[in-house]
Amino acid sequence: MTKKRVGVLISGSGSNLQALIEACQQPDFPAEIAVVLSNKADAYGLERAKLVGIPAHVLSHKDFGTRDEYDAELHQMLNRHLVDVVCLAGFMRILSDGFVARWHDAMINIHPSLLPSFKGAHAIRDALAAGVKVTGCSVHFVRAEMDSGPIIAQAAVPVLPGDNESKLAARVLEQEHKIYPLALRLFADGKLTVSDEKVVISAS
Ligand code: GRF
Repeated sequence: MTKKRVGVLISGSGSNLQALIEACQQPDFPAEIAVVLSNKADAYGLERAKLVGIPAHVLSHKDFGTRDEYDAELHQMLNRHLVDVVCLAGFMRILSDGFVARWHDAMINIHPSLLPSFKGAHAIRDALAAGVKVTGCSVHFVRAEMDSGPIIAQAAVPVLPGDNESKLAARVLEQEHKIYPLALRLFADGKLTVSDEKVVISAS
């Protein structure tokens, strides 16, 4: 089995990265993490990668004049590590349209809401403010518009009486850690096709 090579982009704690690392450690998992890149030097996810011997690098936007220059270097680093698929895992930086186009249907993101509801950086807070009784998380292919693109997998999480942002976020995160590896497995097994901007999952 030739494993798909994954580049994971992070900015913070990297708990989703950890879930992907653990999935990739299973011998029958069809993907392996080739490199972890962070735009923040203090992202704990960098330590998680180094602990298991995965190359991990910081690419700070402060070292680049423009977004396009930054994204060009990001692209080169991914290519240098022969990456087939990019997983955004809490990467808190907007990517240029050119970068998104280069990784069309080969870049995946996880978002803490049932998309297309509650896009943006405060999905949990916004769900609580709206009073929804069910929220959740989504894994999707990345398109130029933030938090949009064909949906690969979703999990629902009930909003409970007495929930606050951190309690709800923790329960959503638990589900994220399940569906991100699942979505990556489907991708790496070649089971996903995008038709009319919707993901079709093949059974065989
Ligand atoms: C997660 O909630 C994810 O959905 C969002 O950013 C957060 C990243 O958390 N895109 P972690 O760094 O993986 O712990």
